Amino acid sequence: MKTNVLVVDDDDHMRIALKESLSKIGYTVSLADNGLKAVEEIDRNMFDLVITDVKMPHLSGIDLLQRVKDKRPFLPVILITAYGTVQDAVKVIKEGAFDYIQKPFNTDTLYGVVKRALGVNGGKIIYASREMKDVLQSTERVAKTDATVLVLGESGVGKELVARYVHENSERVDKPFIAVNCAALPENLLESELFGYEKGAFTGASSRKFGKFELADKGTILLDEVTEMDFRLQAKLLRVLQEREVEVVGAKFPKKVDVRIIATTNRNLAQYVEEGKFREDLYYRLNVFPIHVPPLRDRKEDIPPLVAYFLKKHSKGMDVRIEEGAMELLKQKSWKGNVRELENTIARACILSNYSLIKTAHLPDMNSVKDVSVGSVREMEMKLIIDALKSVGGNRTKAANLLGITARTLRNKLKDYRDLGLNIPDKEV
Ligand SMILES: Nc1ncnc2c1ncn2[C@@H]1O[C@H](COP(=O)(O)OP(=O)(O)OP(=O)(O)O)[C@@H](O)[C@H]1O
Ligand SMILES: [Mg+2]
Repeated sequence: MKTNVLVVDDDDHMRIALKESLSKIGYTVSLADNGLKAVEEIDRNMFDLVITDVKMPHLSGIDLLQRVKDKRPFLPVILITAYGTVQDAVKVIKEGAFDYIQKPFNTDTLYGVVKRALGVNGGKIIYASREMKDVLQSTERVAKTDATVLVLGESGVGKELVARYVHENSERVDKPFIAVNCAALPENLLESELFGYEKGAFTGASSRKFGKFELADKGTILLDEVTEMDFRLQAKLLRVLQEREVEVVGAKFPKKVDVRIIATTNRNLAQYVEEGKFREDLYYRLNVFPIHVPPLRDRKEDIPPLVAYFLKKHSKGMDVRIEEGAMELLKQKSWKGNVRELENTIARACILSNYSLIKTAHLPDMNSVKDVSVGSVREMEMKLIIDALKSVGGNRTKAANLLGITARTLRNKLKDYRDLGLNIPDKEV
């Protein structure tokens, strides 16, 4: 995806310098030497970011910011301010600027702010809230150490992204990052995955298998959903944490490994310990540096930028927008499935709006929100299909077109739903 940046400054040198710096890191840069020209550019083109000087003749950077907010509410704007106008700068943020850069500045400062605005900092973690800022700041701090990190939070909040962020901000960044989903495999397969085995360790072990701990040597291993590991494997894991060595199945001696361990869970780990489902000693070893990723409903400021990001991601290059009322609705929802559910909702609304303007009708019914089960792809699909049908007055051919599936596929799915006893509002056309 090409990134288009609009740079607005009446100072020729500044304009050129910004263009050079931003082109260097791969962005496509357009230039405008005053605010009015910038407005024209924004009407004509889709930009991902606007960087503008504040002091300009005709239309100031602040006025431009206002125009941008009217036209493209989610287009981030970075203002360049002169030294000593911090008060203005604060005001400017309140008015909706993403951030400001104070003159004079170096390219690292520029890149930092730009990447944050574009959400490309550390694996695209998009946020605007104080809560996420704090989370990422402490993540950055612990990343520099080799401490074990435990990432906690509800399903879909972005635990895996945060785990990757740890790795990306650590000195191990050039070494492997290996993620293992502990919930996905039965016990003995998970053991082989993690610890590996020697040739001939058991029937069928026809060659040496390297475990993920060995493969992650010098790098980072992510034990996703660590609570789903059974008791016996928990003991083996404890040993890795205590002794920094792995017991390869069938090997005579343990093997030293140098891995940074990150674990995640969406369960209440302390309660698991209490109930005897998780080893207490392992809990303490893992819980060295817990990071709580807050649920989306507790950081609603993140919703608009996330929506903008997912719109771009799912718009298939078209200029999909969202009505203010629809945005309000998104801000009010409780988001049990957190960011993942928000992304699904936007992806689906893009389709239902036919990639034009998303209205409240394209969003799931507020009253039925509770039954959108996060994990269930089938249920999502069902809602998508039924909403598509509703939006075209039950016309199956149109609904199939809207959904990008064949009429036959749609017919089969509807039959399945009817068999489940659902009342489907369609007619064969
Ligand atoms: N701040 C964010 N910015 C951009 N994308 C995000 C953000 N948070 C989450 N996502 C996206 O939402 C989805 C869920 O995130 P992730 O897999 O990290 O969540 P999780 O907490 O590990 O969920 P689970 O408990 O279900 O495993 C992913 O597609 C991820 O890219
Ligand atoms: Mg996860």
